[in-house]
Amino acid sequence: MSSSAAYRDTSWASDIDHVLLSEEEIQEKVAELAARLREDYAGRQLLLVGVLKGAAVFLSDLMRHLSMPLCIDFVQLRSYGHATISSGQVEIVKDLEWSVEGWDVVVVEDIVDTGRTQDYLLRQLHMRGAGSVRICALLSKPSRRKVDVTIDYLGFDVPNVFVVGYGLDFAERYRNLPFVAVLRPEAYKTP
Ligand code: IMP
Ligand code: MG
Repeated sequence: MSSSAAYRDTSWASDIDHVLLSEEEIQEKVAELAARLREDYAGRQLLLVGVLKGAAVFLSDLMRHLSMPLCIDFVQLRSYGHATISSGQVEIVKDLEWSVEGWDVVVVEDIVDTGRTQDYLLRQLHMRGAGSVRICALLSKPSRRKVDVTIDYLGFDVPNVFVVGYGLDFAERYRNLPFVAVLRPEAYKTP
């Protein structure tokens, strides 16, 4: 089903102002990023660390393009709660299961906004002895950056608007949309 069909079919269609990135654009970019990872990590001990919950969709699509042996693990961090403004504090809600010692880690993230989450996570991974750490993020909002982080594998820069879909939520909703969209202001008011 194309993005426009999904857009028409969803009961949330009325909440969406416009589609920023279509399903096709996203899938094409995911394949491109995966091709770079395949080349860069051939013969290495690759561990993909997905940041829950937002990166679940991206990680699932990305890893299916990676034909080499790899492992995955997940971490859940909190910096937002149910608001669209970051509190500036990062805490671990669910830690990694694996020791990252010696692994070539690629952190898979939905969006880098202020950069605080990635800054915190990178420090943790280095402290725990990861062999190397790089970031693979689907989206970045460079205009919102408070902490400078290098995104080695980036899908798209987005403007300073709150986006949902393809894993990204507002108050835990909209993660299952196959595209990335901007909500109408009214959608922020409904429970
Ligand atoms: P940080 O500000 O870079 O630490 O980003 C923290 C987290 O905020 C991201 O991993 C997302 O889960 C969330 N976030 C930031 N911007 C958006 C957005 O536009 N939509 C949905 N979630 C967002
Ligand atoms: Mg996130």
